[in-house]
Amino acid sequence: MMLLVVLFGVWLNSASAAKLGVVQTEGGQVEGKSHKMGLFRSVDVFKGIPFADVPGMWEKPKPHPGWSGILKATKYRERCLQVTLLQTTTQGSEDCLYLNIFVPQGRKLSTSLPVMVYLFGGAFLLGASNDVAILGDSLYDGKEMADRGGVIVVTVNYRVGTMGFLSSGDARLPGNYGLWDQHAAISWVRRNIEAFGGHPDNITIFGQSAGAASVSFQMLSPYSKGLFRRAITQCGVALSPWALQTNPMALTKKIARKVGCWRSNEDEMLLCLKMSDPVGLTMAGKIDVMLILGKGVVMDLLELAPVIDGDFIPDEPSQLFHNAAQFDYLAGINSMDGHFFAGVDVPSINIKNATSVEQVRGLLAGLTKEKGAAAISSAYSIYSSNWGSAPDPAVVKKTVADIETDFLFLVPTQIALQLHANNTSGARTYSYLFNMKTRIPGFPRWVEAEHAEDLQYLFGKPFSTPLVYFPRHRTLSEYMIAYWTNFARTGDPSKGNSKVPVPWPAFTKNHQPYLNINNKITKSSISYNLRSYYVNYWTTTYSSLPSVRREEDEDDGGMKGEEKEN
Ligand SMILES: *[C@@H]1O[C@H](CO)[C@@H](O)[C@H](O)[C@H]1NC(C)=O
Ligand SMILES: *[C@@H]1O[C@H](CO)[C@@H](O)[C@H](O)[C@H]1NC(C)=O
Ligand SMILES: *[C@@H]1O[C@H](CO)[C@@H](O)[C@H](O)[C@H]1NC(C)=O
Ligand SMILES: *[C@@H]1O[C@H](CO)[C@@H](O)[C@H](O)[C@H]1NC(C)=O
Repeated sequence: MMLLVVLFGVWLNSASAAKLGVVQTEGGQVEGKSHKMGLFRSVDVFKGIPFADVPGMWEKPKPHPGWSGILKATKYRERCLQVTLLQTTTQGSEDCLYLNIFVPQGRKLSTSLPVMVYLFGGAFLLGASNDVAILGDSLYDGKEMADRGGVIVVTVNYRVGTMGFLSSGDARLPGNYGLWDQHAAISWVRRNIEAFGGHPDNITIFGQSAGAASVSFQMLSPYSKGLFRRAITQCGVALSPWALQTNPMALTKKIARKVGCWRSNEDEMLLCLKMSDPVGLTMAGKIDVMLILGKGVVMDLLELAPVIDGDFIPDEPSQLFHNAAQFDYLAGINSMDGHFFAGVDVPSINIKNATSVEQVRGLLAGLTKEKGAAAISSAYSIYSSNWGSAPDPAVVKKTVADIETDFLFLVPTQIALQLHANNTSGARTYSYLFNMKTRIPGFPRWVEAEHAEDLQYLFGKPFSTPLVYFPRHRTLSEYMIAYWTNFARTGDPSKGNSKVPVPWPAFTKNHQPYLNINNKITKSSISYNLRSYYVNYWTTTYSSLPSVRREEDEDDGGMKGEEKEN
């Protein structure tokens, strides 16, 4: 009895978890807020810590001058200036280089935790570290991952759109400002995270879509040597056809035209752009989906993107994998990553109307125009090879989604995995296919995992907003958090603090296993050689076809943009 009373007293005294309180960073002191997660468990949350000064327009980020007193880090700061989702106006600020930190605590203050730095997606055009609030919290709120996985989660802002990625393709306006911001943020984490209980030598960067391509660019840059240790790309790599702008000056001229800065003298044009209003420049970078309906593919609209600048990205991404060989790498895609894009390019796939052979060929023509007619017929014969004489309409529709998924996401990711595995000596490589059936109502039955559907599970939404999910979603969420945070802790997704349903075998030079991720992971969830028939087509047959020169490729003073507008 006595013992029980004593134990109860001890329990009362320590029922709340440890708290960090005020933390000293290089810029000054910061104080966050502790959130209770359970008995003896909490997460210290710091929102809006500056990792760089307010950046000059189209300049690299600069160190923050620091502050005196205690910075109350309890509110997210503004996103970087960008167009709104409907693109009718802009939101955000040029004063946007801030990050947020989520530190899990138990009875004692955490020390030497693995650190996971998240780069948001949004086509290099939109997005923020605290994007998409769902029932109060941001989609990227790090509390559940931090608490369940025992890792520090950091989410960071970076410049997007015209302010983040405009480039002249040379030293006058080198571009990649958004990538430099990401680099500055990761470097800040490396220098400061120990004070928050993190281990600076165990940083994993992870991201989705354009954020995944960003992670991939960070891995390939010579500036990242020794900066972090591991990387995860979800649905995007630097090799994705939408991730690199190869003709930045043509795009810059198009934007100059829109803001009244077009000049035949390029230096004068660039000077005019530099003196223009950032809001007008940001609006000029918007994409207009109406422009391509019936005469192109949506991928062509994703124009503001990283460039080969001879510095941060010194060469073609495929030539830089020796730089990535030092990092453990986990990469994958969603089974229907291309479904959204396919639905814009071939609207009939999502409605009752039949999808015709002409529509399939039209899509292939749009995606492969670099290679001309030979590519259309060879790709068509590959993708229709299992149709039979009278294909089920749903089979044709699903083929359209598969074509976009392969072209935009799956094939580039498989090549990146191979280049990584082939170059590494010691660092590990892991591959996955996320194929949980979509939760989006109204889609045809054949739709599996749509682009971005992985994120809600990774960030633990089925736990933080349990009413809108079922138990199977919590199972999946638990699996993903376990694999991801184990990987951050040990470099092996199956080893670490969290139990996983099956061991995930490594992807190597001669052996290409991948994990099928859904709520029913068993031994038979390991498959091999993901869509290798199609990967082989694009990497060998297709890539050896000669390119056909197109007039649009030439520097035409931005007339392409004007034609499109008319
Ligand atoms: C390693 O990476 C380089 C690019 O840096 C690439 O050209 C090469 O093919 C890769 N090596 C192997 C064995 O795949
Ligand atoms: C679907 O079919 C209807 C009736 O045949 C037609 O009016 C409509 O334009 C079609 N829609 C598409 C997207 O092809
Ligand atoms: C990686 O190496 C394997 C085995 O040598 C080879 O078959 C494959 O083509 C290589 N992949 C790349 C992208 O170089
Ligand atoms: C972090 O990295 C250090 C140095 O490489 C290593 O000794 C340690 O085990 C790692 N800690 C964790 C939690 O991964």
